[in-house]
Amino acid sequence: MAGFGMLIDILKKDPKKIVFTEGTDPRILEASSRLLAGNFLKPVLVGNPDEIEKAAEEAGYNIRGAEIIDPDNFDRFDEMVDLFMELRKGKIASREDAAKTVKAANYFGTMLVKMGIADALLGGATYSTADTVRPALQVIKTKPGNKIVSSCFIMVRSNATGDDEVLCMGDCAINIKPSEDELVEIALESAKCAKIFGVDPKIAFLSYSTLGSGKGEDVDKVRNACEKAKAAAPDLAIDGELQFDAAVSPRVAKTKCPDSPVAGYANTFIFPDINAGNIGYKIAQRLGGFDAYGPILMGLNAPINDLSRGCNALEVYSMAIITAALA
Ligand SMILES: CC(C)(COP(=O)(O)OP(=O)(O)OC[C@H]1O[C@@H](n2cnc3c(N)ncnc32)[C@H](O)[C@@H]1OP(=O)(O)O)[C@@H](O)C(=O)NCCC(=O)NCCS
Repeated sequence: MAGFGMLIDILKKDPKKIVFTEGTDPRILEASSRLLAGNFLKPVLVGNPDEIEKAAEEAGYNIRGAEIIDPDNFDRFDEMVDLFMELRKGKIASREDAAKTVKAANYFGTMLVKMGIADALLGGATYSTADTVRPALQVIKTKPGNKIVSSCFIMVRSNATGDDEVLCMGDCAINIKPSEDELVEIALESAKCAKIFGVDPKIAFLSYSTLGSGKGEDVDKVRNACEKAKAAAPDLAIDGELQFDAAVSPRVAKTKCPDSPVAGYANTFIFPDINAGNIGYKIAQRLGGFDAYGPILMGLNAPINDLSRGCNALEVYSMAIITAALA
């Protein structure tokens, strides 16, 4: 992937610690052993040390050097509960509830990042997206200047010449029905993420209409969001509303919107809602031969990412590098 080697180089100069919330999962153990061998990223596994070591031995992975932190035997647990109480002031009934909440691996791992014990977190090998993301929304929160946490996928396909074709798609995983302003934020954050992966962003706000060919309030929302994004970032190549064919096919673009600065060559796609986005990235992945990296969360105060529950160890390894490099 464009920029992937560059991410490893960044980590080699400044190795980070990444928390894996599912410490006994064989895919996490395989990825951890590979990361330990590479010596540029330190895994922190959440769970019971005996269980983790037994699982690693049974699966045949060497995880010597990995830090293991057990929520049931953590020397800073009281401090963690105090901090959680403070962060969730007015939203948690009792200290007992707080202790119970942070004992769960998804919250515990997120609190390790909040306390500065680790730099980043990757979860979701068994937790749902919502259960991985919710602790981050509640504890890590949005960074200054951002109103929402959103997400994008980096989509990569090798072409015949061996070069990688890299696209960015947002928001396919977090915001269910983004408002106009939220679409603007998703677009500007996706552009930043695309740049990290070596893409010069050409941003298409997608719809079932191309520049007024279709009518309806969903079209108006996408068009208005696009206009706001253009005003907010005049240096970026942005256009919309565009149908997907006009966005990617120079031939169709010539017919439907010949003056567009983006159409025909778009590489950063902003979907109108999570239905379109989630279906869209999976079509590219399953029928278009693209590898999907993500969802990469954008707008959080610390890098925390979610795995697909169907992920394999290589995807865990790649997402760990992406997540830590964002730190
Ligand atoms: C992300 C998601 C889990 C949040 O849902 P939730 O936990 O029910 O959200 P709530 O409305 O209860 O909010 C929980 C907290 O997160 C905050 N929050 C919710 N969405 C947020 C967002 N997009 N950005 C920033 N903060 C957000 C809320 O303000 C709230 O904070 P508070 O407790 O301090 O007041 C939800 O939007 C979701 O399910 N998205 C789709 C996930 C999915 O299934 N994806 C498809 C598979 S990849």
